[in-house]
Amino acid sequence: MSTPTDPALDTPPHGPAFTPGPKGLPLVGNLPQFGKDPLAFFELLRSRGDMVRWRFGRNRCVFLADPDRIGELLTETERTFDQPDLGIAFRTVLGNGMLVARGRDWRRKRSLVQPSVRPRQVASYAATMAACAVELADRWSDGQRIDVKREMSTLTQRIAVRTIFGVDTPADTEAMGRAMDVAQLEIGKEFAGLGALLPDWVPTPGRARIRKAAAVIDAEVRRVVARHRDGGEERPDLLSRLLTAVDESGMPLTEEEIRDEAVTLYIGGHETTSTTLVWAWYLLARNPRVREALAEELDRVLGDREPGIEDYARLTYARAVVKETLRLYPAIWLITGIAKEGATIGGRPVEEGTRVWVSQWATHRDPRWFPEPEEFRPERWDAEAGDAIHEYAWFPFGGGPRVCIGTRFAMVESVLLLAVLARRFTLDVDPGEITPLTGLTLQPDRAMTATVRAR
Ligand code: HEM
Repeated sequence: MSTPTDPALDTPPHGPAFTPGPKGLPLVGNLPQFGKDPLAFFELLRSRGDMVRWRFGRNRCVFLADPDRIGELLTETERTFDQPDLGIAFRTVLGNGMLVARGRDWRRKRSLVQPSVRPRQVASYAATMAACAVELADRWSDGQRIDVKREMSTLTQRIAVRTIFGVDTPADTEAMGRAMDVAQLEIGKEFAGLGALLPDWVPTPGRARIRKAAAVIDAEVRRVVARHRDGGEERPDLLSRLLTAVDESGMPLTEEEIRDEAVTLYIGGHETTSTTLVWAWYLLARNPRVREALAEELDRVLGDREPGIEDYARLTYARAVVKETLRLYPAIWLITGIAKEGATIGGRPVEEGTRVWVSQWATHRDPRWFPEPEEFRPERWDAEAGDAIHEYAWFPFGGGPRVCIGTRFAMVESVLLLAVLARRFTLDVDPGEITPLTGLTLQPDRAMTATVRAR
């Protein structure tokens, strides 16, 4: 018979319990606190525990702060957790592309696109990435004033248009880029504003603009696809690879699917990468010691030549700068899943329909996993120290089956662009704190202006 001191009684039968979160209001729950400052709200939830209950309007929610539990959600996505509907804005632009698709449809698409972003393929896009950065570096001059956000956005857009669609005449790049810009801006507004809470059928001026932008994107993509098909020759861009991809039963992607996947890769990859670079310049400007260590590595590894894919593995400090930037300013700052019947977290049952939230922002700034978390310290990612970091304490690219398909692309692109530009210049970002704004990606809340300094 058990006694009160029996150690078996100290182990809860269903794993750790959920902790109640901050008190909410009737009907709206914690929505006002979340809406006012989502990042601060997630940090508050984290201070309450590792598995915290709260309410988003009428929806029952759970917030997870502990990497083991985060890993459970991410690796169980598709099996016991559904991805939430991304809303009408995304669907209008991305059609039924991989980001929007679910279940078998998603699996088929993901497996058809995956080969075109494998390391060997990404290596073939690296020369274009570096060349675009060199074009920009050739235009910069000592003392020039720049808008960092605009410069990085134009740069990654050029790279996306060239590596995904294989077009490089200024007219093509501009037409495609302009339509994508409008679509992305409007998706961001809908996502961050009230639009996302409105039913799909409600017409709004923003939604009308999204439809118009999507129509232009359709026409542009069709034109480019037709040119690829007519051209016949093998080209090194992503679109060409999608055109020849076939699934297990030998079926290629349809015209519609090719359009959707190409646009999904563009939207998934462009703003996330440019935002990461913007924050990297901000952090480098505020941390001269790190800036010098980066310059030292670039001089040592590259001397006076431009970097190529073969340098990616050698630029260990540049890679650490990008990882540390993604820790402090993760472009994607939250992921949610919706519990299916029978879902559990930490051995505890989670009621069907419960929304489970994890936030890169909150976990990446948890002092338990990252001592002095506010400090920008790329040394955290040194070989040994980096290996000791829990797989899901740092998850800027998500994890599990839905992990970012462009992880390698994004890392290679960020490191090469930083290497090309920081080898020749430093950016003196104007003084003053810049706070992150929670839109589709974590953006600086105002223009980031800087003076270019030749090294
Ligand atoms: C620093 C840059 C990037 C960051 C921080 C980032 C982050 C993420 C995250 C967190 C997810 C998972 C979302 C979820 O589970 O709900 C994701 C998915 C995705 N990303 Fe990225 N990403 C980046 C760059 C890219 C690039 C360059 C591409 C394309 C070349 C890309 C294409 C995609 C696609 C298509 C998905 C959906 C995958 C799926 O649902 O199977 N991303 N990304």
